[in-house]
Order: sequence, then structure tokens, then C-alpha cells
Amino acid sequence: MSKKTVITYGTFDLFHVGHVRLLKRLSELGDKLIVGISSDSFNELKGKKSFFSYEERAEIVKSCQYVDDVFPENNWEQKPSDIKKYEADIFAMGDDWVGKFDFLKEQCEVIYLPRTEDVSTTHIKKTLSSLPRVG
Ligand code: CTP
Repeated sequence: MSKKTVITYGTFDLFHVGHVRLLKRLSELGDKLIVGISSDSFNELKGKKSFFSYEERAEIVKSCQYVDDVFPENNWEQKPSDIKKYEADIFAMGDDWVGKFDFLKEQCEVIYLPRTEDVSTTHIKKTLSSLPRVG
């Protein structure tokens, strides 16, 4: 049987347990997991600013045992060519994206997995910024 490649995307800032659990489940869908990580310029385009730079986020995600390789996501349009380039059999994301990438079903299987509850980068940022300053 041929090996299956899984592709996913995200910002993965302030790497947290929701990210780890998603990557673990994604890796179990196939034999190889490739992760597209939003570049700093793409985040800017989306009106977001990450705490860690692209290089730092890429280094952290690549060090995760479930991940085989990472690459930058620079725009909304590159997914079809990435799927071709990496010969991905499965495109998968957390279910906050449900339906949004169904157009990729022409190229590969598209799967949305349930998110881990009660954790997100946004929540961590908000919680930290509401803490009283020490010193
Ligand atoms: N994810 C997840 N469970 C969480 C948080 C994220 O499964 N609790 C998944 C998302 O669905 C996505 C991937 O992890 O497929 C990367 O998500 P990202 O947007 O980088 O993380 P969030 O914590 O959702 O960040 P933000 O709050 O900035 O949206």
C-alpha cells in the first residue's frame, strides 16, 4: 500500500496543548505530516501579529515528534500548489475551519478534526495581558 501524506496549516504561535493534540491526531491519519506555518508577512496580511517570529514558530513545530516537515504559508492561494508539490493525500484542519477548504476535495481528501476545548493562542494572550504586573 502506498504511503499517505497529510498536510495542514496554521500560525502555531505560543505552541500549546491544543496544537500538540491536533498534530498527534493528524499524524495518525497517514505516514507523513507536513505543516504550513503562516509567515510573518501573511499574518500581517490577515491583520494578526504573532508573539514568536516565523523562524521560531517553524523551529518549535518542526521539533514536535508528530511533524515530519514544515514550510512557510505566504498567501491564501498557495494551498492547491502545495498539495501538488508535497503529493498530499489528505488536507486536514481543526473544525474552526469546517467547510472553508472543501474546494480542495478536487485534489485530495479534506478532513476537519474537533479542536481541543478551552485553549487557544488568543485566550493565552488575553489571560496574560490581564494579569497584574509584578515589580
Ligand atoms: N487547534 C486545535 N485546538 C485548539 C486550538 C487550535 O485543534 N484548542 C488547531 C486549529 O484548529 C488549527 C491548528 O490548531 O487547525 C492551528 O491553529 P492556530 O490558529 O495556530 O491556533 P489557535 O490557538 O486557534 O490560535 P488563535 O487563537 O490565534 O486563532
